[in-house]
Amino acid sequence: MANMLSNKEPWDLVAPGYTDITMKMFRIYALAALDLIQTQRDDHLIDIACGPGTVAVEAAPRVQSIEAVDFSQAMLDKLHAIIKDKGISNIHPRNSDCQHLPYENEKFDAAISLFGLMFFPDRIKGYAEIYRTLKPGGRTVISSWAPVAESNGFQLVFGTLRAINPNIPEPQTEIESLENPEFFKSEMEQAGFKNVEIHRVTGEIPFTNADDFWNDMVRANAPIAMFKNSMSEDDWTVKNQTAIEHITQQTKNKPKALQAHAWLGFGVK
Ligand SMILES: C[S@@+](CC[C@H](N)C(=O)[O-])C[C@H]1O[C@@H](n2cnc3c(N)ncnc32)[C@H](O)[C@@H]1O
Repeated sequence: MANMLSNKEPWDLVAPGYTDITMKMFRIYALAALDLIQTQRDDHLIDIACGPGTVAVEAAPRVQSIEAVDFSQAMLDKLHAIIKDKGISNIHPRNSDCQHLPYENEKFDAAISLFGLMFFPDRIKGYAEIYRTLKPGGRTVISSWAPVAESNGFQLVFGTLRAINPNIPEPQTEIESLENPEFFKSEMEQAGFKNVEIHRVTGEIPFTNADDFWNDMVRANAPIAMFKNSMSEDDWTVKNQTAIEHITQQTKNKPKALQAHAWLGFGVK
């Protein structure tokens, strides 16, 4: 089934909210990816499907240079603003579809795709492009989410989406997807990577109260933002109310830790 998150429009739409909210939330995964890849000072790194630079900005003090590539210009504009604001000189943003990386063979020491390659319609091409552009011995980390059923944070997000849009099916755990660490490992091995290890990393979706949680989701979550965009303001007002009631009921509106488990796949060329 076509995944709307394989297109750039939803990412253009949420770029501001994503930068304010999700980028902070994903910092824990970015740091785990950089630790796993064992960055070296003279590394040339590529951040594939970089968004506003969640990995690139953390990597900047650790490596020599970073090519930060994404097909959403709105995300890249946010990265440009961060680079300017922080005075970073070794991140080079570039607009491209990452299923075709605009770089020569064996250019990079390390490649990270944090919650990016998982959306490519041709994921095998995504791995192949990482493999092609890595030097022999180059390291990669690619991430994906663990099944929704294992993360109370994602259960709340999907449950709320289903409360306002009953057409959305209940999330099923798919054996033949990157949710399954054995499948993930075998896909990376088939792409040619050696020493493949899949690590579990747990992040948190902040929850203080139902209103703030939902408002953040509407700004930063691409499927929710697209759903809002598809309807009139009056219809959205009703959905908004339903969403907040659902979240209040599920959480008793008390601050809590909402977990989001991810898989980080490490491999060597
Ligand atoms: C969930 S965000 C992840 C961004 C960043 N890596 C992070 O961890 O915060 C997914 C990103 O993948 C990008 N993306 C998805 N498919 C892409 C493709 N085929 N080529 C380039 N970028 C893509 C989107 O534009 C978006 O910025």
